[in-house]
Amino acid sequence: MNILVLGSGGREHTFAYKIAQSERCENLYVAPGNAGTHDLAKNLNISVNDFEAIKECVLDKEIDMVVVGPEDPLVNGIYNFFQEDEALENVMLIGPSKRGALLEGSKQRAKEFMLQHKIPTAAYQAFTPESLDAGKSFLETLESPYVLKADGLAAGKGVLILKDLDEAKQELENMLAHSKFGAASEKVVIEEFLSGIELSVFVLTDGKNYKILPTAKDYKRIGEGDTGLNTGGMGAISPVPFADKAFMKKIEDRIVIPTVNGLEEENIDYKGFVFIGLIKVGDNPYVIEYNVRMGDPETEVVLPRLKTDLVDLLEATSKQKLDSISLEIDERAAVTIMAVSGGYPEAYEKGKVISGIERIGDSIVFHAGTTYKEGSIVTNGGRVIAVTSLDADYKEAIKKSYQNLEELSFDKMYYRTDIGFDLA
Ligand code: AMP
Ligand code: GLY
Repeated sequence: MNILVLGSGGREHTFAYKIAQSERCENLYVAPGNAGTHDLAKNLNISVNDFEAIKECVLDKEIDMVVVGPEDPLVNGIYNFFQEDEALENVMLIGPSKRGALLEGSKQRAKEFMLQHKIPTAAYQAFTPESLDAGKSFLETLESPYVLKADGLAAGKGVLILKDLDEAKQELENMLAHSKFGAASEKVVIEEFLSGIELSVFVLTDGKNYKILPTAKDYKRIGEGDTGLNTGGMGAISPVPFADKAFMKKIEDRIVIPTVNGLEEENIDYKGFVFIGLIKVGDNPYVIEYNVRMGDPETEVVLPRLKTDLVDLLEATSKQKLDSISLEIDERAAVTIMAVSGGYPEAYEKGKVISGIERIGDSIVFHAGTTYKEGSIVTNGGRVIAVTSLDADYKEAIKKSYQNLEELSFDKMYYRTDIGFDLA
């Protein structure tokens, strides 16, 4: 099979790494890819949102399967673009249709879906510029802290959690009346604050059947002890130690099954990943958000634990035969720690030479933001390299990743030294 992975981060390097291990993969391409995928596959200089160029490449390279990494092309309708084109309709595309992708593309849509299918989530109301005053009145009925969410995609920045009522009203106005997050905040969801510990559950569905992949927890803030600005994710651990059998059963019964059944009932074409962001309140799971793709850096800990051939699994997803596959998972824990550029998630420099990658032996190096320049591997993004380790004991895995991170260096390299601190 010829396979194309779309994207350029650690998630996509991990997909490429697993796909390259499969005997079923003949030729592997990544667009646009990074220095890590360059060593495993052929990188193609194509943007993930340039559907015409992707089509040309799929036909030219006789691609059988396209694995979509990030949400943008999904929300922009790449699945439908393939379905509606006679030359592409038989290519397996892993990802939901445009309607399915709205679960991530619109917070309001996600909330309505959950309400419709009785999936536990925080109480909410949605507001537009016309209903700004009603939104402020609604805030008065809630208790602090206040949760404001831009409806559309805002690169992970569209959620504000505010303690002060007046500040919350002001931010609501900034979002609705002054386009704080551009078009993404033309609508705002205000919701009840839920207090608890977060985890993520990853589901692969063919629209009818599903497989629950290993759980993971990511560390979103830039600073030690979960402080400072939100990032794409500074590290992750799988499995989540507190997600025991009884809790997972609640997640499956109350959330996963109603989600998959809801998609089917609403005739939504969905052959891909559902990343369910959850919060454990007391002993009960609530959905914080849906994403219609895998997480990054969660993929860097979830996929290395997968023993089942990934290409078989993705093919079964596309052909609606997931019920014929059994999932085999490595019992060991996986940990990944992200080395980032100094300054990230605010302004940072690129093009710094990275040294020491070749000295890392007993961990897996996944490239997130790297490229080749004049024969050297250099930084090319905020998140640069994820170092993943596996061990029966997650604390040992953490230790291994930290030892190996010490081998790695580039100018202004930074990483959190406390990944997993809250799980001890
Ligand atoms: P989201 O983009 O919806 O995942 O929200 C970003 C982050 O905001 C989540 O990972 C949570 O930490 C937090 N958050 C979102 N919604 C709530 C809520 N209703 N209660 C408490 N925290 C929340
Ligand atoms: N790590 C969070 C995400 O991928 O959305």
